[in-house]
Amino acid sequence: MKIKNIFNILKVLPILLLTLSCDGDSDNDGPIIIPPTRVQATFEMSISPSDPNVLLLDNKTSGIGDFISEWDFGQGDGLVQDLPGIEEVRFDTDGTFSVRLLVSNAAGLTVDSKTVVVDNSAGGICPNGNCGSTSTSALKDAATTFFVGNITRSSRVNAGGKHVEVLKSDFSSITSEYEMKMNVMYPSQGNYDFTAADAIVNFGVNNGINVHGHALIWHNATPDWVNDFTGTDSEFEAMVKDYITTTVTRYKGKIGSWDVVNEAIDDGSGNPLRNSVFKQKMGDDYIKKCFQWARDADPDCLLFYNDYNMASSSGKRAAMFKIVDDLGDLIDGVGAQMHISYNGPSKSNIQAVANGTVSRGLKLHFAELDIRANPNNDQTSLTSQRADAQKAKFKEVVQIYNSIPLDNKYALTVWGLKDNESWLLDFWGHADWPLMYDDDYNKKKAYDGFLEGLQ
Ligand code: G3I
Repeated sequence: MKIKNIFNILKVLPILLLTLSCDGDSDNDGPIIIPPTRVQATFEMSISPSDPNVLLLDNKTSGIGDFISEWDFGQGDGLVQDLPGIEEVRFDTDGTFSVRLLVSNAAGLTVDSKTVVVDNSAGGICPNGNCGSTSTSALKDAATTFFVGNITRSSRVNAGGKHVEVLKSDFSSITSEYEMKMNVMYPSQGNYDFTAADAIVNFGVNNGINVHGHALIWHNATPDWVNDFTGTDSEFEAMVKDYITTTVTRYKGKIGSWDVVNEAIDDGSGNPLRNSVFKQKMGDDYIKKCFQWARDADPDCLLFYNDYNMASSSGKRAAMFKIVDDLGDLIDGVGAQMHISYNGPSKSNIQAVANGTVSRGLKLHFAELDIRANPNNDQTSLTSQRADAQKAKFKEVVQIYNSIPLDNKYALTVWGLKDNESWLLDFWGHADWPLMYDDDYNKKKAYDGFLEGLQ
């Protein structure tokens, strides 16, 4: 029992009893006994500033009446009575431990429990359980031959704060996560809305950060009025031409590259072109038409075709390279999205995307990298082992990218800053930790993997 609790009780007990017995009611035959209530166990913990393997535990429990406090340090040593002051406990072996404070009084027992993760390869006890990076190197400084990109939103660049701080410190390129797509920039016929796009582009230009335009044409971000277009096919084509010309012209000299067409290839057998409204109303050569209009609007802008599963599907990869070959000199680069997992696709399949792009003399953009640590939903937290595997995959992807010839390099863009912002959480509906920063913007081991891939 904490000594100070006993003194507190002794101090208030006479007053408490006196108050109860002097209630002015001459019939009262003694003090009113207030039944004890449970006292909530509460403690705080921190890592010793002088030793990363020492945990500092501070019992913050408070309550009326006497109670007993005992610790379970989670290392199999049983219960230890709480002593006055801060408890210092060593954790020298790797693992995950449950530290508990048990507080009991006449009313019963309460427990406070916190998880401690130890990974000596990451320095000892992990802050907030995140055995992440201790690196102070900036990604953009370490990647001297290509842009290191991430995504953003107008609300985030307008708000500033940690998101902007990390973007500016670590990244040399930005992509709009969703606000530079047709459904946002062209919400109704004849009515453009570049408000959000302007905010993002201006942030990039004002901070010397490359802006990658994503994505002019995408069946998944096409406004309803376009999908339900009531005019003739030639009027439809004229509308699309106007949209591409207006948009690319607006950002000429500000946007260095555009995904002109995104995800035009169907996942079905044979990987045909998706039967989008663009294909239906403009024909199979709609892709070439869109690239031509973008080229005409800004001859200096790098034009990309962007798609997913380029590594995991050889069929889709082949279909993509056929589109690329048909475009001839209208295309400058391939955008391989790279939404992958810690355990796949294989290094050789990722390498095949790079090889096919390089052999065509095109730029390669690993455009939307995230690496699922929980693809089979078999984890409830990012374990040290899974974090190591994710780190290794980041390293592998960066090594592949960093090894292509200089002329074929453009950017490696990660699709999100911190784990809890990833689109994957809603898409798959279960926990995952696919990015390089944890929910508090702490650098994870994945960040170190990216850096190691550059060495
Ligand atoms: O922020 C608004 C919010 O204010 C509003 O209340 C809410 C309801 O309308 O919408 C919110 O915007 C949503 C936005 O994500 C932010 O959450 C958009 O509706 C939603 O369409 C948008 O989804 C984006 C999606 O592309 C479609 O544009 C995802 O963020 C984005 O991660 C995802 O990214 C795509 C790539 O562009 C292409 N490759 C696949 C990748 C994942 O789908």
